[in-house]
Amino acid sequence: MNVAYNQRTHYCGQLRAGDVGKQVTLAGWVNSSRDHGGMTFVDLRDHTGLTQLRFDPKNKAAHDVARDLHNEYVIAVGGTVVSRGEWVNARLPTGEIEIEVTAIDLLSKCDPLPFQVNDDFEANEDLALHYRFLHLRRPEMQRIFRMRHAIAHAMREFFNEKGFLEIETPFLTKSTPEGARDYLVPSRVKAGSFYALPQSPQLFKQLFMIAGFDRYAQIVRCFRDEDLRLDRQPEFTQLDMEMAFVQRDDVMNIVEGCFQRIFKAALGIDIPLPLPRMTEHEAMERFGIDRPDTRFGLELRDITDIVRGVDFTVFREAIEKSGVVKCIVASGGEKLTRKVTDGLTEELRGMGGGGLPLVKVAAAGSQGGSPSSLPPSQGGIEGGLEFQTGIAKFIQPIASQLCQALGAKAGDTIFFMPGKYADVCKYLHHVRSRLGQILEVIPEGKWNLLWIIDFPLLVWNEEENRWDSTHHPFTAPLDEDVHLLESNPGKVRDKAYDLVLNGTEMAGGSIRIHRPDVQKKVFSLLGISDEEANEKFEFLLDALRFGAPPHGGIAFGLDRTVMKLANANSLRDVIAFPKTQRAICPLTNAPGPVSKKQLDELFLSVKMPSK
Ligand code: AMO
Repeated sequence: MNVAYNQRTHYCGQLRAGDVGKQVTLAGWVNSSRDHGGMTFVDLRDHTGLTQLRFDPKNKAAHDVARDLHNEYVIAVGGTVVSRGEWVNARLPTGEIEIEVTAIDLLSKCDPLPFQVNDDFEANEDLALHYRFLHLRRPEMQRIFRMRHAIAHAMREFFNEKGFLEIETPFLTKSTPEGARDYLVPSRVKAGSFYALPQSPQLFKQLFMIAGFDRYAQIVRCFRDEDLRLDRQPEFTQLDMEMAFVQRDDVMNIVEGCFQRIFKAALGIDIPLPLPRMTEHEAMERFGIDRPDTRFGLELRDITDIVRGVDFTVFREAIEKSGVVKCIVASGGEKLTRKVTDGLTEELRGMGGGGLPLVKVAAAGSQGGSPSSLPPSQGGIEGGLEFQTGIAKFIQPIASQLCQALGAKAGDTIFFMPGKYADVCKYLHHVRSRLGQILEVIPEGKWNLLWIIDFPLLVWNEEENRWDSTHHPFTAPLDEDVHLLESNPGKVRDKAYDLVLNGTEMAGGSIRIHRPDVQKKVFSLLGISDEEANEKFEFLLDALRFGAPPHGGIAFGLDRTVMKLANANSLRDVIAFPKTQRAICPLTNAPGPVSKKQLDELFLSVKMPSK
């Protein structure tokens, strides 16, 4: 039988009751098939949905083929749209009709499946990536990649309308300092020399501004050899942009407009503008992280001054070493069982922390005259509250003051963290995130987009005893802080801005340094000698001396944007052919060994690690 599959009349998700009586041609994959009293039914699938096909034994030739069909066989059929009568399937958009098939072509068979395509049962990840073409055939993956396309398209359209030029930048290039390790490519013609794959087009886009292009935006692949997490891949895609003659607000306004467009295109949601802004300092104080999830409370509270006088070694030692004591007050005590809090303590230990001191706030006397149930005059709590368990006995004298300051009430649990500021932030951020999940207080369907600004330009690298850039070395300091570059570099804030969505960093950018003297000063603070600066960035330093306009830009992670908007768990779900945690591609088996001949051409020999 010959069915003209190249002349499909409809996709599988298209036909409705109004189409009854039409002659149609459909093509796709067998999603499932079953026999009912001699009649064979097949659900035919393509990227738009399912249509039920009915094979009546009276059309013998077609019926014979249909009886031997298996899942994922590829077929084309011709037939008539008929009503399903009383057998309507309300769960399918095409559920009111079926096709009475008169002709079928079996176009392709399918081997036994490593996992089913027609359900969303979590397949083993290595298997799913090895057979990625099958995994991508699943309706959920089809949905994600259609959304990815819609987002990329909305971005391109938006930047085009705003007068941005898309210009490509090289992949075979020199190291760009975004803070990760480079992927290197050996040169065949220049023995012993290597290209680095770009961690971002950072320097090239700055050169575009110096070249007078004024506005540039590119959807571009970036490569970073870093420890992989759910939101990090070794190669990923950025929407990278740069603008000349701008201040911070100009770039932020454009990005806000773009995100508004993206949300509309992907989810039909109107994001209200302008987006809120928070300084990095406030984010660290309140959330312990510079990419806070502001959808829920459980904020960090600084109690250093309140606990200063208390006779509890752990707190005292932290304060003596110029540290802080902070805490989180959590309601919903019944979910915070001993098992749960012990589990949290273990998690912190796994991260290098010392533990998680806590107390429970209870109505006085609820444990039958516990020793910490003191009258207010002796540190007990007004209104009959007392501390129980954990470190209750050590901090009882300040119980009243603490509960009042924190607004704590019976049933609450207070989690404490004494130590160095950075450690306290790190551990309490973890505790807050986990409490959010455990107490189920993170609302679904809320999109908290937020700018973080005024980062410190530099962070002290204790291991190497020098300053590192918080963002990258081309970020400009705030004008009012430039004078501190010599006297107090740690206090200099920068002109960077990060866009955060529900606790994930979506975008990062800054106004750049456009004066060679300031750029050199920053290089020297970073411990980059003049010689090294010239060797690595001579072209940029040169360009800055040839009429560089003030400029700034930003890059947003396209993959991360899709991951968030599609509500996917991992970047692996939104990148067509991603790598595993060990940076391996189970589909192609990359990376793999190469022949001796190839190595010889590159003047390379391989030294294997000793066990
Ligand atoms: P930054 O390094 O902050 O800035 O990167 C910008 C955005 O890219 C995404 N991103 C990643 N996505 C997936 N996997 C990764 N390994 C990964 N690393 C980063 C994030 C991040 O917010 N040149 C600067 C931008 C600028 O200053 O204009 C840069 O690359 O969403």
